[in-house]
Amino acid sequence: MTTPPPALDPERFRRLGHALVDLVTDYLAGLPARPVFRPMRPAERATLLQEALGEAGASPEAIVERFSTAVLPHAMGNGHPRFFGWVNSAPAPIGVLADFLAAAMDPSCAGGDHAAIYVERAAIRWLMELIGFPTDGSMGLLTSGGSEANLLGLAAARQRAADRDGWSVRREGLQRARPPLVLYASEQGHSCIQKAAELMGLGAEAVRGVPVDARFRMDVSRLPAAIAADRAAGLRPFCVAASAGTVGTGAIDPLDAIADVCAAEGLWLHVDGAYGALGAARADLRPRYTGLARADSVALDPHKWLGVPIECGAVLVRDGRLLRETFSLVPAYLRTEPDRGFGGLPWFSEYGVQQTRGFRALKLWMTLQHLGRAGVSELVGRHAALAECLAGLVDAAADLERLAPVELSIVCFRYAPARLRGADERLDALNKRVMEEIQAGGAAFLTQTTLAGRFALRACVLHYATTEADVAALVDAVTRTGARLLVEG
Ligand SMILES: Cc1ncc(COP(=O)(O)O)c(C=O)c1O
Repeated sequence: MTTPPPALDPERFRRLGHALVDLVTDYLAGLPARPVFRPMRPAERATLLQEALGEAGASPEAIVERFSTAVLPHAMGNGHPRFFGWVNSAPAPIGVLADFLAAAMDPSCAGGDHAAIYVERAAIRWLMELIGFPTDGSMGLLTSGGSEANLLGLAAARQRAADRDGWSVRREGLQRARPPLVLYASEQGHSCIQKAAELMGLGAEAVRGVPVDARFRMDVSRLPAAIAADRAAGLRPFCVAASAGTVGTGAIDPLDAIADVCAAEGLWLHVDGAYGALGAARADLRPRYTGLARADSVALDPHKWLGVPIECGAVLVRDGRLLRETFSLVPAYLRTEPDRGFGGLPWFSEYGVQQTRGFRALKLWMTLQHLGRAGVSELVGRHAALAECLAGLVDAAADLERLAPVELSIVCFRYAPARLRGADERLDALNKRVMEEIQAGGAAFLTQTTLAGRFALRACVLHYATTEADVAALVDAVTRTGARLLVEG
């Protein structure tokens, strides 16, 4: 007799699981030979969008078959070594396996005295150690990604500002007449900083955009005057949200100088290192991050540079007690006592917005162990070297123009043949078409940013298997596509 779904009898589960391991192994091994990305055809979209849920359950074998024909062939593309889009890496294979194991255990990592909690504590400590963030008295937790991590760090900053001014933001909210809170981010700061300000009820206007220097780093010399002007206008500056690796160019703001301003002005220093903070794990890059260890909070995404399968972000906060005060709200049904029953360390759910929390930590814990400290450093160094290699090819190509220095693993450039140099509007339109054609064409994949008002092609090297041949293929795709579009007009 077969068991009713969702139960699966153990032998059938084993057979199915083995078949899936084969499917995934072949899929991952076969990726480089396939197009990086292929837009879905209308019929392929429709079959997924319009499919009805059957009255009777389907057999697991049929469901897997359907997955392998309707879903698996239409991946986003980030598993391919010639994918250079956004900040999306390929999944570390051990992380893929870890997700399977985590789902099998399926604990809620809200808190309690079970192994998953200690795995997350350890993985967070390793992240702190890798980037040189203080481990004593600090606290961190895993999040859905950088957006949530930045939100949590900024919420802690707001909590401290209110504490210092003698009121409770948790009790009052922002409903009473108080000086409006403002924070500072460079004009290259990530949009999630603004989203966080909007969500926290501060409003987008609370985010002051500080101009950048020629390397797209925050121009710190502008900061004290901006703070003074806001104070004079009756506002309450409370935080600088600096970047350690902007999404546009990978620029690292001058963190030490910003930390000096924050110390002098009594502001919280938050560092958005969602993409770039892990660069500090590498000794020869570390000097660029001087000041990171002085941050009050850091956002850092293992699902970016480390290739931990999405979703896996992290927030690290120097004053762990303050983070708990920012979020702790424990209803009677969740109360535990240390070392009694299910009680263990203070619950993660007291430090963030989630109550039920997934076992994200396992894929991070396993990926970090597979890499080791040396492996993390080597990965960062290899990607930085590949970005330099790509920049070299761009610089050597007569029809390409580089638009930003390489700071970490991002290269920004455009197709700009001599006869169009200076014609920025035409170049913007042409390069947008170049990008779209390459994305749809499947030979490589890159995305865009805007630099000094100009459309830039943007390539971010983050795949563990990308080679010099792959970056050369990208350059080839851009020059060929640009030349063809120019002729077609
Ligand atoms: C610098 C930076 N900050 C924040 C984010 C947002 O992170 P997530 O997409 O994981 O929410 C990104 C995403 O690319 C980023 O590059």
